Amino acid sequence: MTFPIVRHRRLRQSAAIRGMVRETVITVDDFVQPIFVTYGSNVKNEISSMPGVFHFSLDRLQEEVKEIVELGIPAVLLFGIPEQKDSVGTSAFVETGIVQEATRLIKSWYPDLLVVADTCLCEFTDHGHCGMVHTFERDGHVCGDVLNDESLELLVKTAVSQAQAGADIIAPSNMMDGFVQAIRHGLDEAGYTHVPIMSYSVKYASAFYGPFREAADSAPQFGDRKTYQMDPANAREALREAETDVLEGADMLMVKPALAYMDVIRMLRDQFDLPIVAYNVSGEYSMVKAAAKQGWINERAIVSEMLLGMKRAGADIIITYFAKDAARWLREGRN
Ligand code: PBG
Repeated sequence: MTFPIVRHRRLRQSAAIRGMVRETVITVDDFVQPIFVTYGSNVKNEISSMPGVFHFSLDRLQEEVKEIVELGIPAVLLFGIPEQKDSVGTSAFVETGIVQEATRLIKSWYPDLLVVADTCLCEFTDHGHCGMVHTFERDGHVCGDVLNDESLELLVKTAVSQAQAGADIIAPSNMMDGFVQAIRHGLDEAGYTHVPIMSYSVKYASAFYGPFREAADSAPQFGDRKTYQMDPANAREALREAETDVLEGADMLMVKPALAYMDVIRMLRDQFDLPIVAYNVSGEYSMVKAAAKQGWINERAIVSEMLLGMKRAGADIIITYFAKDAARWLREGRN
């Protein structure tokens, strides 16, 4: 009888020994929970394409935030659905904007909870694009160019007003060129030198944002986002995007979506020493929810495996709609 020289199974034979040699762990400290805030009163409406995720009016927000804090989740990411939209997204940067109001409330209730503000215009513009648009007609269709440098000014105003309201971290997701530099400069000039920028550095033009656009009512009214978000076919370009953001003063680099872009998370991890953020986006959430509802997959096991995959690929922080569930599961013990 010849024996295998190497036996991998020796280190797999019990839960205790598997635990001892485990290379990657997920903890609640890794999570950011997104929240959608809206106008009106007594609103807690489930988003139909994202079961378990709700729109909250400000008077119902505290119950949600309390739960997040009690679960030990360190941060929330705020998205706002405004009362009014216009061509330049004014509701994104007024002092009484929905995100600004929600930020002030959350910081007054829970000063230690980190509020991350998504800095973009698409939820606030009537055309649904992430910046200012020059529209024209071609062959009877409305078309538009998203104007880069003109948009930067509005994005800076948005970021500064979010910091003024008490946001701890500014997360610009608009994909205009130079947005990190412009926002860094704007924050510094306004006295917010200490507020970090979590840049959506590598954001792909992805179909995985579908459910979010229903949730945030931010689908573009014409055209698409391919002139500013990245082509899913490109990975080297992701390094150029990230490098520019590092030079412009970003404090954290994000890859979005996560699941189909694990190679990009790994590339960024290997090339840069900044914290890497993975955004486990709406479509990734909804696919799991739909299959779990059918009884086709084990939701808890699938989610743990996905989140582990993101960390193993190199993410330090994970933005996920599963944060509350995953925090609960972690509390209940390993599975
Ligand atoms: C705003 C923004 C989007 C998402 C986060 N910030 C939508 C988009 O770019 O269309 C998507 C998040 C998700 O799908 O969970 N620009």
